[in-house]
Amino acid sequence: MGQFVLAEQFGTLFDFKESQEEYINLIYEIMQIRKRGDVPIAYVHTYGCQQNVADGERIKGMLAAAGFEFEDKPDNADFILFNTCAVREHAEDRVFGNVGALKNLKRKHPGTLIALCGCMMEQKHIADRMYRSFPYVGLVFGTHAIHQFPELMYRALTTEKRVYLRDNDDNLVHEGIPLRRDGNIKGWLPIMYGCNNFCTYCIVPYVRGRERSREKDIIISEAKEMISSGYKDITLLGQNVNSYGKNLKNSVSFAKLLAEIDSFDGDYWLRFMTSHPKDCTHELIDTIADSKHISKHLHLPFQSGSDRILKLMNRHYDRAKYLDIVNYAKSRIEDVSLTSDVIVGFPGETYDDFKETLSLIKEVKFTSLFTFIYSPRVGTPAAEMDDPIPSSEKSKWFRELLDVQEEIASERCKEMVGTVQRVLIESEKGKTGVLNARTSGNIIVEAKGSPELIGTFQNVKVTEAGNWILRGNVIEKE
Ligand code: SAH
Ligand code: SF4
Ligand code: F3S
Repeated sequence: MGQFVLAEQFGTLFDFKESQEEYINLIYEIMQIRKRGDVPIAYVHTYGCQQNVADGERIKGMLAAAGFEFEDKPDNADFILFNTCAVREHAEDRVFGNVGALKNLKRKHPGTLIALCGCMMEQKHIADRMYRSFPYVGLVFGTHAIHQFPELMYRALTTEKRVYLRDNDDNLVHEGIPLRRDGNIKGWLPIMYGCNNFCTYCIVPYVRGRERSREKDIIISEAKEMISSGYKDITLLGQNVNSYGKNLKNSVSFAKLLAEIDSFDGDYWLRFMTSHPKDCTHELIDTIADSKHISKHLHLPFQSGSDRILKLMNRHYDRAKYLDIVNYAKSRIEDVSLTSDVIVGFPGETYDDFKETLSLIKEVKFTSLFTFIYSPRVGTPAAEMDDPIPSSEKSKWFRELLDVQEEIASERCKEMVGTVQRVLIESEKGKTGVLNARTSGNIIVEAKGSPELIGTFQNVKVTEAGNWILRGNVIEKE
C-alpha cells in the first residue's frame, strides 16, 4: 500500500449520468479481470438510520451497474464497504471492531478493496484515526461524496495509493444515481438531506450538512414508480420532514407533498420520519387524519419531558407544546399510534428532570420508544457541558424507563386482543408457518397463515399479546 493521499476534487459534478457513467463502465472492465469468482462480489454493510440505508441503496445501485452481485458476508467479496454512523459512541465502536476484524481477510485476499464511507467519515478526527489504525483500507469518503463514488472507486482500483476524499462540503442534491432497493415490499424515499437544527447533543448537522430538499417532481415520480412496482409500505425520509420544501424555488409544504402522494391510487401505506415537534403543525395532523394511505402513526421524538433539559438541548418546544400536538393527534386520528425517541442522562439532567420524562411517557402512552443513554459527541455544545451524573446512575434511570415503557406497551397490546387488525405481511418466520407482519401503527404481529400472503395486506384476528407484539391468525377477508 502506498502513502496516504488526499484525493483531489474531480470537478463539480451536478449530473451523475454525464460525469460518472464512464467510470462505472471502467470499473466493469477492471472487475472482469480482477474478480475472484464468476462474478464480482460486493459486501456492503450499512449502520445507522434509514437515511444511511437509502444512501447504501444508491451505492449498491452503482455497484450493480458495474456488474457486481451482493453477498451478506464479506468472505468472498472483491469489494467491502462499511457505510458508517456517528450518532453515538456505541455505533462507532462497532465499526472499529468490524473493520479491525477484516485484517486477516485482506491478508488472504490482497486484491479485495476495502472502503469506508458514511457519517463517521465526515468527522476528521475519526476518519484520520481510522486511516492510522487500518492501513488496509483503500478508500475513504463521506456522505457528501456519494455521487462521486464510481470515480473514487476507479481511482482506488487503478492506483497503488489509498484514496481519501476529505473536506468535501458539497451541499448540492445530486439526482440520477442508480438505485438498488434492499426490499420489494417496504421502501425508503428520501425527500431531503441534512439538518439545520443543531440540537446540542447531536452530530448529524455536522456530518450531513445543511438542509436541502429534493425537487417535488422527482419525489412524485419516484413515489409513483414505487407504487406501480408493488411497494406496499413507503417511508418518506428526512431528519426533519416538516422543513421540506423551504429552500426550493417553488416552495411547498410537507403536508402538501404528503397529500399529493396520498392521492395516487393503489393499495399501499405511506409513512414518514422524522417529524420535529417544533414544527409539527395541525395541518400535518389533519392531512394524516383525512388521508387514504398515510399510516395512523406519528413518530415524534420528544427527547426529554423536562422543559429545563429541552432548553439545554436547543429543541425549541416545551412539554406543553409537545402534549398539545399529541392531544390534537389523538383527537383527530382514531387509534393513532405514537412512537418517539428519548435520551436519558443529558449533561446536567437531575433525577427530578428524569421524573418529568417518566411522567410524559405515562401521559402519552407511546406504542414504542427508541431509548438512548446520552453519548457525548466531539464538536457538539453538549459535549462541553458539565456532566456530573455517573454512568452507573444513568443506567439505573434507563432501566427504570424501560420498565415503565414495557408496562405501557404490554398494556396497549393486551387491549388489542380480540380485535381484527389490518396488517402488511412482510416475511415468514423461518419455515414455521408463522408470518411476520405489521399494523399501520407499526406494531409487530405474528400471524399464522400461508407464505403466499407475503407482500399483501390481510386481516388478522388478534388472539394473544406479548410485551410489544401481537399474535393471531389471518382471517378470510369479508
Ligand atoms: N432527526 C431526528 C433524529 C435523528 S438521530 C430527530 O430530530 O428526531 C436519532 C435519535 O438519536 C435522536 O432522536 C436522539 O434521540 C438520538 N441521539 C442523537 N444524538 C444522540 C447522542 N449524542 N446521545 C444519545 N442519543 C442521541
Ligand atoms: Fe439531530 Fe436535532 Fe437534527 Fe434531529 S433535528 S438530526 S436530533 S440536530
Ligand atoms: Fe447515524 Fe448519520 Fe443517520 S450519524 S443516525 S447514519 S444521519
